[in-house]
Amino acid sequence: MKVSIFSSKPYDRQFLNAANDDARNDMRHELTFFEPRLTTETASLAEGFEAVCVFVHDKLDRDVLQTLHNGGCKFVALRCAGFNNVDLDAARELGIGVARVPAYSPYAVAEHAAGLILTLNRKFHRAFNRVREGNFALEGLLGFDLHGKTVGVIGSGKIGVCFVRIMLGFGCRVLVYDPQPSDELKSLDIEITSLEAVLSQSDIVSLHCPLMPQTHHLMNAQTLSQMKRGAMLINTSRGALVDANAVVEALKTRQIGALGLDVYEEEEGVFYEDNSDRVLEDDTLSRLLSFPNVVVTGHQAFFTREALENIAQTTIGNLDEWQQNGACENAVK
Ligand code: NAI
Repeated sequence: MKVSIFSSKPYDRQFLNAANDDARNDMRHELTFFEPRLTTETASLAEGFEAVCVFVHDKLDRDVLQTLHNGGCKFVALRCAGFNNVDLDAARELGIGVARVPAYSPYAVAEHAAGLILTLNRKFHRAFNRVREGNFALEGLLGFDLHGKTVGVIGSGKIGVCFVRIMLGFGCRVLVYDPQPSDELKSLDIEITSLEAVLSQSDIVSLHCPLMPQTHHLMNAQTLSQMKRGAMLINTSRGALVDANAVVEALKTRQIGALGLDVYEEEEGVFYEDNSDRVLEDDTLSRLLSFPNVVVTGHQAFFTREALENIAQTTIGNLDEWQQNGACENAVK
C-alpha cells in the first residue's frame, strides 16, 4: 500500500523502514515520510495515498478525515496506543478504518514513571547540576525512603500493572483505583479501593488511565485538595488528565509536594520539537518549569528501543492485515 507517514522523525524512518524491509516481499509497503504534523493545513499532502500513519499529536478531526477520504485514504494506522486524537464517528461514517498499537512496551512507561519518582524524591535533577559546578553540598537534596510509603495507582491496565509490580519491589504499600480492575491484580499484594481513598492515603499518586471525557481533568482543584498534603503526583498518561492551572496553584500552596509530568495538556506543537531558540509562549508551562520540585519530560516515557521496534512491527502488521482482509485485529472500534 502507498502510505503517507506524518510527524516522522529520523527514528521513525529507521524503525519503520526496518520493519517494512522485514515484511514478506509482496507485502512491502511504499512508505513516504512527512515531517509535519497532520492538520487541516497539511492533510492535502496525503492525496493519492491509501493509508496514513500518524502519532499522538496528529489531529484527525472530521475536517481532516474528510480531506483524507477525498484523497483516497481508506485506513489510518496509529503508531500509538491512545486514540483520543481521532474522531472515530467521522472515520466510521467515511468508511476509514482506524487501527492502533495496543501495547508496545508497558515496561517503558512504567519504568519512566518510577524514574520520575526517584528523580523528584532524591533530587537527581538538582544534584546533576550542582556537582558539575563543583558544589557537593547536600542541603536541599533530602529525600525519603520509598520503602513503606503508600503509592496510589489510578488505572490498572497494562502499564498500571507493570508500575504496581515496580512499586511493590520497592517495598511500598500499593492502593489501586480502577472502575474495571485488571485480573492480574488478584495475585498481587495490593488493595483495590475508591478514588477518594487512593487520593487521601497516598504519599505518591501515579496516573495510568486513558484520557476520555470522564477522565478529563481527573486531577482538578477539588481532587488535588483531597490528596495528602505534600504528596507527589506523577502523570505519564495524557496531559489533560491534570488541570495544569489547578496544579500550579496546588504547588504554590504546598498542597502538592512534587510533580512529575511526561505529558502536558497543551504539549501539541511544543513537545517533540527543539524550541530552545524560541520564547516559550505558554505561561503555565513556563511556571511549571520554574518550580524546583517539578520535573517535566517531553512525552518520552515510551521511548525505548524495544518499544520503537514493537510499534514499527505492529504498525506494518496492521497495514498488511488491512491490505489483505480489509479488517484488522487492532482496529479501534
Ligand atoms: P490500558 O487500556 O491497558 O489500561 C487503562 C486502564 O485504565 C484500564 O484498566 C481501565 O479500566 C482504566 N480506567 C479507565 N477509566 C478509568 C478511570 N476513570 N479511573 C481509573 N482507571 C480507569 O492502557 P495502558 O496501555 O496501560 O495505557 C495507559 C495510558 O498510558 C494510555 O491511555 C496512554 O494515555 C498512556 N500512555 C502514555 C505513553 C507515554 O509515552 N507517556 C505511552 C503509552 C501510553
